[in-house]
Amino acid sequence: MVVLGIETTCDETAAALVERYEDGRGKILSNVIFSQVSEHAAFGGVVPEIAARAHVEALDLIIAKAMTQAGRTYDKLDGIAAAAGPGLIGGVIVGLTTAKSIALVTEKPLIAVNHLEAHALTARLTDATPFPYCLFLASGGHTQVVAVRGVGNYVRLGTTLDDAIGEAFDKTAKLLGLGYPGGPQVEREAERGDAARFALPRPMSGRNDANFSLSGLKTALRLEAEKIAPLSDQDVADLCASFQQAVVDVVLDRLRAGLRLFRGQYGAPTALVAAGGVAANQAIRKVLHRLAFEVGTVLVAPPVELCTDNGAMIAWAGAERLAMGLTDALDAAPRARWPLDEVTGVRPPAPYRAVKQN
Ligand code: KG4
Ligand code: ZN
Repeated sequence: MVVLGIETTCDETAAALVERYEDGRGKILSNVIFSQVSEHAAFGGVVPEIAARAHVEALDLIIAKAMTQAGRTYDKLDGIAAAAGPGLIGGVIVGLTTAKSIALVTEKPLIAVNHLEAHALTARLTDATPFPYCLFLASGGHTQVVAVRGVGNYVRLGTTLDDAIGEAFDKTAKLLGLGYPGGPQVEREAERGDAARFALPRPMSGRNDANFSLSGLKTALRLEAEKIAPLSDQDVADLCASFQQAVVDVVLDRLRAGLRLFRGQYGAPTALVAAGGVAANQAIRKVLHRLAFEVGTVLVAPPVELCTDNGAMIAWAGAERLAMGLTDALDAAPRARWPLDEVTGVRPPAPYRAVKQN
C-alpha cells in the first residue's frame, strides 16, 4: 500500500509517499521537507503564529512535489495520513485539514497519526525492527523512554519532569549567544572545549525510575557562565563541552534504568531505538551504542534526516495503522497535547470510505 504523509506540528512543513509491502517492509518513494528555521531564527525559537502561516503558504507545493517525485497520482494512493498532534495547534490544524480535504475528494481513508508514534515506528521503516523494542525519543519538545510493544501499544517508562533534552540544548545555546536551533551549535562548540572544566550536576542519577530533569542543569550552567562573564570563545566552548558531557552522563544513567524496567516487565528488547533531533548528536549516539552493547542488544539509530521531523515517518505510521485497519473519521480532532500511551491500536476501524455530503 502507498500512503501520503503530512507533517506540520512544529517548524518543518513536510510531505512524503511511503510504500509498505505485505511482509511489513517499507520503502520511501519521496520525502520532501521545507524547514522554516530561517523564519524563526531571529526570535531564537519557533513562533507558533509564524509557523502556522508558513505551513499554509508552503504545504500545497510540498505535497505536489512529493507526489511528482514519487511519480504517483492520487488515485494510486491507499491512504492519506497527517500528524494530528501533539504540537503547535495552528500548524496541526493546517496539516490535518489539508489531509481531510484530500481524503474527502479522493475518497481514500484518513489516518490521524500521533507525531510521537511516527517517531516510534520509524525504526521499522528503516530497519524492519521487530517488536518489542525500547525507544529513546529526545527532541525539542519531548524526552521519553517508551516500551514499543506493537502498533498502538506503547508504555511510557520514563519522561522529563521539566525541560526536554533538545530544549535544554536550545536554551544553553541561547544563553551563550549561539544561534538557533541550538543542538548542532552546542555540539560543534563542545568539540573544542574542555568537558572537565565546569562541575555541573547530573540530575536524577541513581534513581530506579527512568525519569529525567534538565532544568537544574540549565540553571547551574547559567550560574557558571555568570561567574566568569564576559565569556571568551574558549569559555563558551568549555561551557558547551561540560554541558554536553553532563547530558551524556544523564542519558546513560536514566536510560540504563529504563532498560532495566523494560527487561523486568517485557523481557529482552529486540533493540534500543533512537529517535528525535537530539539523536543526531554524535556524543549521545556513542553512549547509546555503549548502552545497547552493555545490555546485549543492538542500537537502531535511523539516519539523521529521519530522526528529525519529516513526512516519511508520518506516512509510514499511517501505513502501519492502515495495514491493521485503523483509520479515522473525517471529524478527527487536532490535538495540542496527546501522550503516546493514550494512542491505541485496538479501537474498531472507522468507515473505510469518506462519505461525500451534498
Ligand atoms: O525532532 P526535532 O527535529 O523536532 C522536534 O522537536 O520535534 O528535534 C529538534 C531538537 C532541537 O531542540 C535541536 O536543538 C535538537 O533537536 N538537536 C540537537 C542536535 N541536532 C538537533 N541536539 C543536540 N545535538 C545535536 N546535534
Ligand atoms: Zn518530532
